[in-house]
Amino acid sequence: MVGLKGRDILSLVELSAREIDLILKRSAMLARRTRIPQQLKGKTVALIFQKPSTRTRVSFETAVAQQGGHPIYLSWNEMQLGRGETISDTAKVLNRYVNAIMARVYSHDDLVVLAENAEVPVINGLSDKHHPCQILADLLTLIQYKKRLKGLKIAYVGDGNNVCNSLLIGCAKTGVDIAVARPLGYGPDPEAIKHAEEAARTSGATISIVEDPEEAVKGTDAIYTDTFVSMGMEKEKDTRLSTFIPKYQVTRRLLSHAKPGAIFLHCLPAHRGEEVTEDVIDGPQSAVWDEAENRLHTARGLLSLIL
Ligand code: CP
Ligand code: NVA
Repeated sequence: MVGLKGRDILSLVELSAREIDLILKRSAMLARRTRIPQQLKGKTVALIFQKPSTRTRVSFETAVAQQGGHPIYLSWNEMQLGRGETISDTAKVLNRYVNAIMARVYSHDDLVVLAENAEVPVINGLSDKHHPCQILADLLTLIQYKKRLKGLKIAYVGDGNNVCNSLLIGCAKTGVDIAVARPLGYGPDPEAIKHAEEAARTSGATISIVEDPEEAVKGTDAIYTDTFVSMGMEKEKDTRLSTFIPKYQVTRRLLSHAKPGAIFLHCLPAHRGEEVTEDVIDGPQSAVWDEAENRLHTARGLLSLIL
């Protein structure tokens, strides 16, 4: 059954391939409309942020407003959450006011508690484990550039973080072959790999986790990277940069091992000279600005289906 009304989106694990397809189709349809249908009229969406954000905050605020709804930005430390009110109490109260909650948190477990204590849908705006909304935008970008998903090959090079976890699951569900190149000890979450492998058995996608970036990117349609130092990991910055650079930096040389028309993807924010060189992210194969724009289209698509 494809039905997203009222659903929590904590990760892509809960979504079937058909449901992902539905969100992407709705997002693409809304992207073409000059007049956006007012499907959120009279609805209020709480947007809770425990960490900084540019794209997630602005795309969701805009998506809610453009569809006739009212977004409320809530910074964790300006809520009573910051003074120790529990997440479950907060969830029970917000549940009486708003029609949906989007939250960006450090610990994925906090998001689970939020969802368990609120009847309204809860959307993950990034946790330590997953970033489902980002990957919906990335899949839409792949469709725009490559006209399909099934049978494409993508390489993720760098830190096996939240973005990598969700990318693995999203690709496995939609039939995109994915190779992850990471240093030992910096791989994706074993649970995410397990979910991806399970999904790949149905979709036919292949998954490989390797150490050598050149091996991962060989013959791929897209190369994806993200920061080597995610939010909350600032203390590990020096160790991480010396572990990842130069081997895992996406350079023109690395890009030349992919297919000639391969695109470069990055969830942003980018750190030029760390995970990617300037000539790649600002070069002709970079699709990062369309990818960022797609955060808005997929936020609209997702919200219109959930509410
Ligand atoms: N890609 C992404 O989630 O960006 P923000 O941290 O700016 O929201
Ligand atoms: N992996 C990054 C993604 C930011 C959008 C982080 O968690 O900081």
